[in-house]
Amino acid sequence: MTKVLVTGGSGRLGGIVTPRLRAAGHEVTDFDAVPHPAVDDPAPFILGDLTSLEDCMRAVNYSGAEVIVHLGALPGPREMINRPGWRIQQVVPEDSTMRTNTMGTYYLLEAAARLGGVRQVIFASTFYALGLGNRISDHPFQVDYLPIDEEHPLRPEDSYGLSKMFGEELLKGYNRAYGITAVAFRLMGVHYPHNDNSAQYDVTVPSQPHHRGGPIKTTYQYVDARDVANACALAIDAANLDGFEAFHLSTDTVYSEGTKDLVARVWPDLAPLAAGINGTDGIITDAKARRKLGYKPEHSWRNA
Ligand SMILES: NC(=O)c1ccc[n+]([C@@H]2O[C@H](COP(=O)([O-])OP(=O)(O)OC[C@H]3O[C@@H](n4cnc5c(N)ncnc54)[C@H](O)[C@@H]3O)[C@@H](O)[C@H]2O)c1
Repeated sequence: MTKVLVTGGSGRLGGIVTPRLRAAGHEVTDFDAVPHPAVDDPAPFILGDLTSLEDCMRAVNYSGAEVIVHLGALPGPREMINRPGWRIQQVVPEDSTMRTNTMGTYYLLEAAARLGGVRQVIFASTFYALGLGNRISDHPFQVDYLPIDEEHPLRPEDSYGLSKMFGEELLKGYNRAYGITAVAFRLMGVHYPHNDNSAQYDVTVPSQPHHRGGPIKTTYQYVDARDVANACALAIDAANLDGFEAFHLSTDTVYSEGTKDLVARVWPDLAPLAAGINGTDGIITDAKARRKLGYKPEHSWRNA
């Protein structure tokens, strides 16, 4: 049994990760800026703000955390509003994403360092940290090789992707300084079991014969929230990890076509790089998580 603090415990992923870790026998405390949703047998809960060092210290202290699963964050503020021709409503103040995600991670780590007792932080990073998702420049993501593993350069443009990349750098720094080990799960877009995702599966990706370069937004991969929760449980138990480890987490691709054929149709100039990709495996590979954590996604639409 490990004492675990889950930030973002009132959020969508928190609602699946916390019960999974409790089922594994861990003593979990949730921490969030908004109240816990009403559930049967809720985990102990701390209301607080990640951007307050005092609140983070209260949460780490009260929970007695040995492991922190850091899910609390804000998504992107839709930077595209500044571009001509885009009329997208800004959903949060312009600097909120950067402030919450970077300073929130900093205060949480600082609380862990000051109080002691935390041995590991598991961080919800994202494939946006690579530079996918929101490409403000509109230039395609620069793919150096395929499949894209965790060693591929990170080239984010938007505040969400940048903030997650900075979060990963903070984790590396606190590992160097204080020996707190860290796992950054770079999640593909998360699918939640309470949503009907069926329209998003078995899609036919349109051809783009004149496209040059890599994807603009998506690689047509996703991760099921239950697979993320299983990966968190595996990371807590893992004894073979370095001080900082990034892992891509994917459940599957959303298409039935072979990936080599898809790359040739959709990102034609990447076709020579795709020779080593098997079947419908994604162009972002989670082979490292499978190899090192024993991660085995169980919730693909293909098995439904
Ligand atoms: N949903 C996705 O597709 C996706 C993809 C990749 C990575 N992620 C990451 O996974 C994590 C969880 O995502 P989710 O889908 O559950 O999001 P969510 O918005 O449902 O949950 C995030 C939670 O963080 C809390 N939070 C935000 N600011 C806070 C603050 N200042 N102090 C305390 N709590 C705060 C929110 O109240 C919310 O409950 C996030 O870190 C997100 O960046 C999500």
